[in-house]
Amino acid sequence: MIIPDLFGDAFVRDPYPWLDALRVEAPVHHDPGTGLWLVSRHQDIRRVLLDPDAFRPDNAQDAVTPLPVPVLRVLARVGLRIAPALANNGTDSHAGLRRLVNRFFHAGRVATAVPVIERTADHLLAPAPDHLASGRPYDLFTAYAQRLPCRVLLELLGIGGVDEARLIRWSDAALELFWGRPSLERQLQLAELVGEFHQWLTVTVRDGSAAADSFLGALARHRLPDGTPLPAETAVGACFFVFIAGQSTTGQLIATVLRRALEEPGLWQRATHPETAGAWVEEVLRREPPVTTWRRTTARPVRLGGVDLPAGAPLLLLLLGSGSDPEVFPDPERMCPHRPNIRQHLAFGAGRHRCPGAALARTEATVALRKAAHHLPHLHLTPDVPTTPMLGLLSFRAPLSVTVRRTALPV
Ligand code: HEM
Repeated sequence: MIIPDLFGDAFVRDPYPWLDALRVEAPVHHDPGTGLWLVSRHQDIRRVLLDPDAFRPDNAQDAVTPLPVPVLRVLARVGLRIAPALANNGTDSHAGLRRLVNRFFHAGRVATAVPVIERTADHLLAPAPDHLASGRPYDLFTAYAQRLPCRVLLELLGIGGVDEARLIRWSDAALELFWGRPSLERQLQLAELVGEFHQWLTVTVRDGSAAADSFLGALARHRLPDGTPLPAETAVGACFFVFIAGQSTTGQLIATVLRRALEEPGLWQRATHPETAGAWVEEVLRREPPVTTWRRTTARPVRLGGVDLPAGAPLLLLLLGSGSDPEVFPDPERMCPHRPNIRQHLAFGAGRHRCPGAALARTEATVALRKAAHHLPHLHLTPDVPTTPMLGLLSFRAPLSVTVRRTALPV
C-alpha cells in the first residue's frame, strides 16, 4: 500500500482516508519516508502502550529529521542532551519522577485550579468584544488558545520572570526541531531558540531559589531509586518535556475545539454549559486529537497485527486514527459527544506513560470553550480565509488560526 508523505499538505489536511485504508489493508505498515512502522488499529496500539517490556519508549523524543553536525554543535554549546526523564524513560527512575509530576497535575489539584484558569480566560478575552464590535477579524488562536495554557502552567508551577511570548516561541521551536522536517537553515534557527530555552531552564532549575513546595523545589529534592540526587540534566529534561507538553499541545487542542465548535450547528450557543463543553472536548480528543502519533521501539522480536517485527523496530502509533477505528467507535466520522465509551480513546496514551497532564488539558479546554462562548456569543469563522494554515508535524496537528468575526444581529 502506498501512503503519502506524512508531512505533506494533503495528509496533514485530511489524514482520515489514509488512516482508514491502513487499518483495513496494512495495520502494521513500513513507511519508507520516515523508516517507521505505522500501527493503525486501536487494539494493536493499546497492546503496545500496555506492554512496556516488549515495546520501549526510548525513541519517543528522538529527532525525526536527523540533526546534522552544525545543528548538534549549536545544541552542544549549551550542553543540551535529551536525557531520559519521562516520556523517553524506560528505566527504573521513571516511576519516581512520574509520581512527582502527578503530585502537581492530578485531577484533585486541577479542580482547585479552575478559578485560576477561569480568571486567565476572562482576562485574555477582555479585549475581544470591542475588537470584534469594530468589525475587524479576531484570531482566537494567537490571542487566546495559545496563551491560556502558557499562563496557567507558569502560575501552577510558580514560575515568574519569563516573557510568555518567548516561552511559546521556544516550545513551538522544540516541537518543530524534534518532530518536524525543517531544512538545515531552519534547523539552525530552531536550534538557537531551543538552546535559549534549555539555558533558561538550566538557570531556573539550578538557581536553587524555588519554593520547597513548588515543582522545581520538588525536583531539586528528588532522589533516584538508589538514593542519589537527581542529576541536574535529568531535572532539566523533565522540565523541558513538561513545559512543551503542558502548553503547546493544550493550545493546539483548544484551537481545534473552538474551530469545530464554531462549525457545528447550534453547538456554540450551548457550549456555555460545562457539561456540553466537557463532552465536546472529549469528542474532539477522540476524533481530532492534537497529539496525532507517539513512538515506541520493539525490545525484542515480536509479532504485531500479523507482522513479524525484529528487535529495535521503530513504531509510529497512529493515535489520531485509533479514535476513528469503527471496531471501537461506530460511525467514527460523526461528532457525537455522548458516546457511551467516549473515554476509550487513546489521545493521552495508556499504561505506564499515560499523560499525567490529561486532567489539566481537559479542564483548560473545557473552560476555554465555555468562556469563549459566554463572552463572545455571536461569532462565525471568517469565510475569507480559504484554507486554514495547519501545523503538521510528525506528532502534532492543529489549526494555526481560528479567525472569527462578530455575526450581525437581526434588527
Ligand atoms: C491536549 C493536551 C495533551 C495531550 C493530547 C497529551 C498527550 C500525551 C501523550 C499521547 C503522551 C504519551 C503517553 C504514552 O506514552 O502512553 C503524553 C505524555 C506526557 N504528557 Fe501529555 N498531553 C497533553 C497535555 C499535557 C499537559 C497539560 C501536561 C503537563 C502539565 C502533559 C505532560 C505529559 C508528560 C509529563 C508526559 C510523559 C509521561 C510519562 O512518560 O510518564 N501533557 N501526553
